[in-house]
Amino acid sequence: MPEGFEWSTIISWGDPILADAPDFDFDHQSAAAQEGQFGYNNDYTTLIRTRDQNAAVLVCNNEYTNDELMFRGYTGSASLTPEQVRITMAAHGMSVVELRRASASRPWEYVKGAPLNRRITATTPFRVDGPAAGHPLLRTSADPSGRRVLGTFGNCSGGTTPWGTVLSGEENFQGYFNATAIPADQDAAYRRYGITGKGRGWEKVDTRFDTGAEPHEVNRFGYVIEVDPSDPSSTPVKHTALGRLKHEGANVTIAPDGRAVAYMGDDERFDYLYKFVSHGRFRTGRSAEARASNLTLLSSGDLYVAKFTGDGFEDGVADGTGEWLPLVVGNESRVPGMSVAEVLVHTRLAADKVGPTKMDRPEDVEPNPVNGRTYVACTNNTKRTPSQIDEANPRANNKHGHIIEITPDRGDDTATGFSWKIVLIAGDPSDPSTYFNGYDRSEVSPISCPDNVAFDREGNLWIATDGNALGHCDGMYLMPLSGPHKGHLQQFLSVPAYAECCGPLVTWDQKTVLAAVQHPGEVDGASPEKPASQFPYQGDGQPRPSVIQVRPA
Ligand code: FEO
Ligand code: CA
Ligand code: CA
Ligand code: CA
Repeated sequence: MPEGFEWSTIISWGDPILADAPDFDFDHQSAAAQEGQFGYNNDYTTLIRTRDQNAAVLVCNNEYTNDELMFRGYTGSASLTPEQVRITMAAHGMSVVELRRASASRPWEYVKGAPLNRRITATTPFRVDGPAAGHPLLRTSADPSGRRVLGTFGNCSGGTTPWGTVLSGEENFQGYFNATAIPADQDAAYRRYGITGKGRGWEKVDTRFDTGAEPHEVNRFGYVIEVDPSDPSSTPVKHTALGRLKHEGANVTIAPDGRAVAYMGDDERFDYLYKFVSHGRFRTGRSAEARASNLTLLSSGDLYVAKFTGDGFEDGVADGTGEWLPLVVGNESRVPGMSVAEVLVHTRLAADKVGPTKMDRPEDVEPNPVNGRTYVACTNNTKRTPSQIDEANPRANNKHGHIIEITPDRGDDTATGFSWKIVLIAGDPSDPSTYFNGYDRSEVSPISCPDNVAFDREGNLWIATDGNALGHCDGMYLMPLSGPHKGHLQQFLSVPAYAECCGPLVTWDQKTVLAAVQHPGEVDGASPEKPASQFPYQGDGQPRPSVIQVRPA
């Protein structure tokens, strides 16, 4: 951290959040305990404000588990006992937990057993909504309705809606299925989504994770989910209208006419950037009617995928114009040969047919509430060859990633046209391929692999990184987007060895920065007997993914 700041842990994997949950005990884990404890590998992190400035609700994704660091004697998924599998399933999903602080200048603490505390796991019932709900592709033997799914996993980044709910992207869902058989009528889709592996042993406790036993279960993951943290008894929703991909997350802005627009990335090399435009209009105010109406906004709308056109490299800036290519508009498919439901379940196959731009792993995509532009973090793509570069993905063997700024035509996020400009080409600033929005490269921090982004009250861009390829730890960075320091990228903190920095979050009062330190100690050869990190240094002898806070000392 910079001088003058201090950090402390808010919550770690295994901390009890439900009233009856036991304290964390590494050597005596159980699925029942984990169901009431904070999950593993915290990624997207948000704070929901309350009327009391010293109370807030922390909502956090728990993306995946490091089984090799959780259990002694782990030698691969075959070594997991059924109870261990159930523990990992319970450590996935999301955690909702109330926070309090004594005053605005004091640190946040979590409140065990608070009324809104909740765990959502790989077995929590979800309601499927939107045009593909109930479609035969979503029906299974356990759910002939195709409308009720158990669980969420691979929850990577997310977004907080203007109506107070939290969205989360089901990203690497393909990795949970043992592809013992690939159904002939879904061969192309299985391959396009990478559902070809052996999974994580979950089929030991539930045969739906065996594709030979349940060929449609895979079609029930890969969505943007919505959770209402104000109602712990609410059923979370999977929104088919936003398409099925390796969703990194979704961030909503409200267009001038009141429609909700969600921006979304599909985190895979050479995959696409998407946009959803609701049919309904956002209603302001706290009435029950407004709330109920807003909760339907993501159930029906238009879905687009982005095509970027460069204006040439000659001007020394990677920039140009772009177009949102329609996939579904007005409840009609715009993709030849595919129904609306097919477009929404096999969205990658649909997008492939309309010619969007293949991106360098688009991860977090977030509108800046201060300047109205949207920022797309492209983490990296080392597979891009010199013949495959374009102005929006201008670097072959892109080890360090870049960030694109999108400006919607007429300041209207529902517009199908936009202009764009790359504001960061990451790397060591001594590398001539880097670019810091025109700022003097001798005065900026090295940065690699931008992943999650956020904005503070002034609209400055905060960037968390995943996978630093410069030989440094990952970290959190700040880059002003306007004024004399435009492009002056500065590192704010770094996270410990082998961790990824998630969050990031600057609280509304700008008194605290939250970082989600994900997978500390994740490196080949690490085990409970040989931990590569002991973060957050609370005497456990093991690393524990944690959400931390950084405040002025
Ligand atoms: Fe879970 Fe796209 O990183
Ligand atoms: Ca240009
Ligand atoms: Ca990510
Ligand atoms: Ca974000």
